[in-house]
Formats: sequence, C-alpha cells, structure tokens
Amino acid sequence: MNVLMVCLGNICRSPLADGLLRKKVKEKNLNIEVDSAGTSGIHAGESPDIRMQKVAKDFDTLIDTLKSRKFIVKDFDKFDLILAMDKSNYQNIRQMARSQEDKDKVHLILEFTGNENLKEVPDPYYGGEQGFTDVYNLLDEATDKLLSKINN
Ligand code: 4NP
Repeated sequence: MNVLMVCLGNICRSPLADGLLRKKVKEKNLNIEVDSAGTSGIHAGESPDIRMQKVAKDFDTLIDTLKSRKFIVKDFDKFDLILAMDKSNYQNIRQMARSQEDKDKVHLILEFTGNENLKEVPDPYYGGEQGFTDVYNLLDEATDKLLSKINN
C-alpha cells in the first residue's frame, strides 16, 4: 500500500501528515510506503516550515529531512490513496485525474476522523503557533484512524 499526503505548499500540513504516518508505520512494522507533495510547486526543494518542524519535534516526530515537491500526474500510478488536507487541494488533484480510477484514490484526510463539522485541516502558514499545534492534533488523530481502517 502506498499513501501520498497532499497540501498546497508541502511545507506545513502534508510533511507533518507524512512524518506522523511514517513513524506509526515503522512502530507497527507495517508494509506501507508514505510520501507527500504540494499542489503548488512554489516551495519545491525546501525543508518543512521551521514552525512545523518544531511542533513535530515537540511530539517526537521528525520531519526535518523531508523536501517539498510538486504533485505530478504520475503520482496517480504509484499511490493507492491520495489524501488532501483541504477541499481546494482535493479539487486541484481531482482535476488532474485521467480516469475514474485516479479520482477514486483521492480523499480528504479528515474523512477518516468522521467529524461532520470539520472536514479540512486549516492552513497554518499565515497564523500563529497554536495553528501548528492544532494541525498536529488533527493529523495525529487522522493518521491513527487511517491505520486502523487500513488494518481492518
Ligand atoms: P501547506 O501551507 O500547504 O500546509 O504547506 C502553506 C505553505 C505555504 C503557502 C501556503 C500554505 N504559501 O502561500 O507560500
């Protein structure tokens, strides 16, 4: 199973989702490959945002070696599940799909938490530190629930 996490810049939300899922997959010895990408290429080649790196580290999750890259059509071939952080990312990825099969791979990551009132991981980029902690808490829960769903 291959899972791709996607946000806009691939420097805040999706690198954290990637790092969290990688860590849990390793702890549980599962055969799941994890990666992340951004729908915009504007931060391609960059490390995750230092504020996201700090919150990740506070919760024993290392994301400092990850590098931003742009989502490409070929990602539909490699990945079984493509998890978007918000509706804008979701729509942008779906627009690149070549077939219904491609489209069916794309989901909002918060579908897995099943909270009808919160469907998107808020973009923390222009806000304060609390926004990054909120992203951590949302993605910690979402990646736990994703793994229990995959295992069942
Ligand atoms: P991300 O956050 O999509 O979670 O990586 C953002 C990072 C950069 C920008 C926007 C969102 N930006 O506009 O540069």
